[in-house]
Amino acid sequence: MNILKEKIHNIIIENGPISIASFMEISLSDKKYGYYRKKMPLGSKGDFVTSPDISQIFGEIIGIWILDIWIKLKEPNNFQIVDLGGGRGTLLKDVNRVLKNKIKNFIFIDINEELIKLQKKALNNAIHYEKIKDIPKKPTIFIGNEFLDTFPVHQFIKKNNYWREVCVNSNGKDLFFSYEITRLSKKLPSSNFTNLKEESIIEINFQIREMINNISNFIKENSGAAIFFDYGYIEGHGDSFQGIKDNKPINTLGDPGFVDLTSHVNFKDIKLQAIENNVNVYGPNTQRLFLEKMGALQRLKILEKNAKNHQRKDLKIGLDRLMNDKEMGNLFKVIALSSRNFPSLEGFTCGTTTNKE
Ligand SMILES: C[S@@+](CC[C@H](N)C(=O)[O-])C[C@H]1O[C@@H](n2cnc3c(N)ncnc32)[C@H](O)[C@@H]1O
Repeated sequence: MNILKEKIHNIIIENGPISIASFMEISLSDKKYGYYRKKMPLGSKGDFVTSPDISQIFGEIIGIWILDIWIKLKEPNNFQIVDLGGGRGTLLKDVNRVLKNKIKNFIFIDINEELIKLQKKALNNAIHYEKIKDIPKKPTIFIGNEFLDTFPVHQFIKKNNYWREVCVNSNGKDLFFSYEITRLSKKLPSSNFTNLKEESIIEINFQIREMINNISNFIKENSGAAIFFDYGYIEGHGDSFQGIKDNKPINTLGDPGFVDLTSHVNFKDIKLQAIENNVNVYGPNTQRLFLEKMGALQRLKILEKNAKNHQRKDLKIGLDRLMNDKEMGNLFKVIALSSRNFPSLEGFTCGTTTNKE
């Protein structure tokens, strides 16, 4: 049995079943054995590939999106860009190429030693932090691509007209799911499930809510914006807890520390949380719509003009993967927040949603 799995068995045997969120937290972020602490999760040798590494146009479009804001703000010096969970650093490198040194303050927030090394190589003037609370207090644009899906999710199931929390349990040999009455399940109002069938599962991501609160407070105090891309949904519910290894789905409980664990992001919940925080909200929209509105297809045409035959094919395939509704175009959503004093943000069909002044 792997060491982290043994540790999880011991925790459960001593204290009882743990929430899926706790299981995710330990599996992904344990200081020594957590998946994101030790493994190289991204790229052709990792468990999955993300948009910036699929097509350079992704980062370039975000660069154009930032450039538009910076120009509308009358080109300030005192301005920084923060990549939340910067991966291999490709996204900020592509953003930087578009910005042509107009903005020089780049920050990565990350916890993975291997990825931090790659980020330093990709952008040697960038600074690293582990937490948002540590970054300089100044106008900021936050980017989070496939960042929120790594946050631990809580699951609740409707059983005999009561909520039970879906937990991870142990018999000393195997880990398995069990349904428990917990502090959180007792707090969930039963009015939440009047229209749901027996055995329905809902997911709540308290840490995403906390992150949206922190980012909202930061941009309210210092002015700024944030944009998040992730696979997720706007309406609906259900079990989206999943494990990925070698680009394939795998048992979530089988090999903690060696499997990427994620859940689909609830974009409606993010929107409501942001509105609650009194910031402007744009979207959520699909990734396809955002890239289309920001001119990704026009950018492809320009790149194709100067490319060799095989490069032309790769450019087209890459962007198609990001925009095609059968691939990432519809599955991936995007949402942006901004402080009230910020100029309007491009790339979204409907303007802002706010309910407070
Ligand atoms: C799925 S990858 C996405 C990487 C990158 N944004 C991209 O698009 O290629 C998640 C990133 O978040 C980082 N990460 C995971 N948990 C984190 C945490 N608790 N705090 C900061 N970064 C974290 C990982 O190390 C990784 O760089």
